[in-house]
Amino acid sequence: MTSKNNALTLIAWCLILLLQNTTATAATETASPEKITHFEQLNLNNGLANTPPMGWSSWNNFGVEIDEQLLIETIDTMVANGMRDAGYIYVNLDDGWQRYKGSREDKPLEYDPEKFPRGIKYVADYAHSQGMKLGIYSGPGVDTCAGYTGSQGHEAEDAAMFASWGIDHLKYDACCSHEKEPANVVRDAFLSMSTALLDQQQDIVLHACHCGWTNIWEWGADIGANHWRIGQDISDDFDYPDNREDYYHDVLDMIDRGVELTPYTKPGQWNDFDMLIVGLNGVSKELVGAGASNIEYRTHFSMWSILSSPLLTGSDVRKLDDYTLETLTNHEVIALNQDALGLQAKKVKDEGDLEIYAKPLSDGSWAVALLNRGSTTAVMSLDWQQDLGLKWDSVTIRDLWQHQDVENDGVSYDVEVIGHEAKVLRIIKN
Ligand code: GLA
Repeated sequence: MTSKNNALTLIAWCLILLLQNTTATAATETASPEKITHFEQLNLNNGLANTPPMGWSSWNNFGVEIDEQLLIETIDTMVANGMRDAGYIYVNLDDGWQRYKGSREDKPLEYDPEKFPRGIKYVADYAHSQGMKLGIYSGPGVDTCAGYTGSQGHEAEDAAMFASWGIDHLKYDACCSHEKEPANVVRDAFLSMSTALLDQQQDIVLHACHCGWTNIWEWGADIGANHWRIGQDISDDFDYPDNREDYYHDVLDMIDRGVELTPYTKPGQWNDFDMLIVGLNGVSKELVGAGASNIEYRTHFSMWSILSSPLLTGSDVRKLDDYTLETLTNHEVIALNQDALGLQAKKVKDEGDLEIYAKPLSDGSWAVALLNRGSTTAVMSLDWQQDLGLKWDSVTIRDLWQHQDVENDGVSYDVEVIGHEAKVLRIIKN
């Protein structure tokens, strides 16, 4: 592709995003009584997470049953099985590392010495010695979702403690403590921790977790958050009828929630579709859901990748089978997620169960996912001139799961996509 064509494609894409931004804002404005336009713009930016954070988080599989041994074994496994080298460098402790349950007004925030006999710094040092990073969890309430002491009123002190331990990532979770609060209150609660982290001499990525409430994508970037959940907790399901318990979103629900939020994702600031369920197989201690098939987990991974969500996997990495490990470490699919342009793929075609998602990449090629949401096999067709607006006469199409180039007739590419599968392609101008 020439640089002129490249520039034109990017300009066209920006216009689409601008248009979509207007639509998304309009959609969220009607949904949200707490419009935030009166907020003073802050534009805080820690300069971190220029590509979506990748790693592991303890919550989905282990809940609060976490300890030093699990962390060390997880780090060792991720080094040995190639996950670290594939990009999964964050090992994130979720809720349950703390010593005390109850209110911060009554009890301090300390690590549990039975779970972490040598302290959190020991684990962080170990992670760093293996080329990885350590994340931790807290929240802006007096207690957290699992009932442990929170950070309310102690933000500066806690940020300094995390930094002294060598922490690299903080999931700061307001969904339980601030569920009913208006946007300005939630925003200020995150802001207190964000500014406290910026005062530290340590680079700490901030995940502002509020279950997608109060339109957090509208103000998350401004207060210096690097990613924010777009919805409630994911369930270990690909497509479960309705929301489980009116709360948990399956894979397709999450995709549908994120589709209008494309304009909010950019380098350093990511819509977070929640932690990966790949390989959980229904065994989670904390998530609802009976598990998904290998193909469904692969589709989930493909979509999170092309949508530029953080890729924080939640399964027990010590027990991954070959197929699951191959899914998680497909470097050609991961490259779509980690692309320097930092765009979230947009839905460019919607024909009932058959949807096409696409985005341009920094080298001038395009990433495309052909998603079959239905349960029966269908032939899907990509016409890059019509569907993507690319005036390209001759292209190379690469199937990123087959790891090979596939035939096309010069106008379009037709392929059978089985139920719940996504074909992931890279389209390159010849
Ligand atoms: C909330 C979050 C989860 C997890 C738990 C921990 O439910 O949505 O991802 O962090 O809290 O208690």
